[in-house]
Amino acid sequence: MTSPHAITNLEFDPYSYEQDEDPYPIYRRMRDEAPLYYNPRLDFYALTRFEDCRAAFIDWKTFSSARGTVLELMDVDFKNTLIIFMDPPRQTALRNLVSKVFTPRRIAALEPEIRAIACGYLDPLRETHGCDIVRDFTANLPMDVISTLLGIPPEDRDHVRELSNAVLHREPGSPQIPPSALAAMPKLLAYFESALAERRTRPRDDIMTLLLQAELREPDGALRRLRDDELCSFFNLLATAGNETVTKFLATAFHCLGEFPGERQRLLDDPALIPNAVDETLRYDPPSQYQGRTLSRTVEIHGGVIPEGAKLLLINAASGRDERAFPDPDRFDVGRPIENHVNFGWGQHICLGKNLALLESRIAIEEFLQRIPHYEVDPEGIERMHSSNVRGFKGLRLRY
Ligand code: HEM
Repeated sequence: MTSPHAITNLEFDPYSYEQDEDPYPIYRRMRDEAPLYYNPRLDFYALTRFEDCRAAFIDWKTFSSARGTVLELMDVDFKNTLIIFMDPPRQTALRNLVSKVFTPRRIAALEPEIRAIACGYLDPLRETHGCDIVRDFTANLPMDVISTLLGIPPEDRDHVRELSNAVLHREPGSPQIPPSALAAMPKLLAYFESALAERRTRPRDDIMTLLLQAELREPDGALRRLRDDELCSFFNLLATAGNETVTKFLATAFHCLGEFPGERQRLLDDPALIPNAVDETLRYDPPSQYQGRTLSRTVEIHGGVIPEGAKLLLINAASGRDERAFPDPDRFDVGRPIENHVNFGWGQHICLGKNLALLESRIAIEEFLQRIPHYEVDPEGIERMHSSNVRGFKGLRLRY
């Protein structure tokens, strides 16, 4: 049996700005030359083929989330309060409880409100000949939507958005969590604590109140309400997971539709293709590039061994370009039939906000194209953000 690093001289570095410009050529080499990849310098393994990633997402017992899912956090001891960093049964119990209030019906009912929020940002752009679509639209819509869902009043939204952005901020070239992010975290939690206290005395028709009143069934069958720290962690996860991903995803979608005007024209001719275009954009260039796991037992795969305790990245972004699953994978094709992709994850941790993300993305693209059907990306106005797992734009200027 060969050790995986002996069979390749590839170096995939999730912290490299250069690779982040276009990671897809290296992902291709990893799929073809090192389907089980090992990086000895940073000490992590990676899977890049679609079927390998999907199988690993399903096998949560072997591929555990309990030590975190972001490479730079996987060696850090942290208090595990987010469901995304838990394994069943605790994750399942909390997730089931939240799924009960996060119902498809409740999400679908948000459509008029999401449309109104989107139009509020897009209407003024009609009067202009260019915009920074991140600053003027995609950075704002997702947080407003999460805030509506949670029940954060409009006057508090800028404050919560700033804190949530600060929590996710990383300094250039450093994988460490900067002091500004560490300082923002307790402030965000404090905000939610005071919002909860308020709802205890005055319940409202919002998710914060519903979760406050919800009851969790313990393994011994006993029922209990969620503690404040559990509730705040959950709000924090929604405010961060539901904010950055959609912000980045939408900017990527507007970038793709700017770079491939023929595909944009297909959407203008047939807006019913927009939901498929959303999935195609996710397949082609997703905001969340990999999900980290820790091995709870040693496994053999592709002639190599991943030892118990090792860090493994399931590079879902690479799996979306796997020609073993998607023919002609480097082509952006809004009409491509897509049965499955794993860019919302798969199995136990599959994105809890998936329906919401699909709904708000569809509405955002529909409303944008109605107002600005023809535009181009200003090559001078492209600014990438950099993080080990999130890919997308910090700024993206469009001209029309
Ligand atoms: C395009 C947008 C989005 C993408 C690409 C995305 C992607 C993902 C992925 C890949 C996972 C799985 C993580 C893992 O396996 O470790 C996940 C989980 C999760 N997402 Fe999303 N997400 C998006 C939007 C949202 C939104 C809008 C929300 C909230 C409203 C949200 C909330 C969550 C939560 C709570 C989890 C954890 C679920 C669990 O651990 O059981 N996401 N997301």
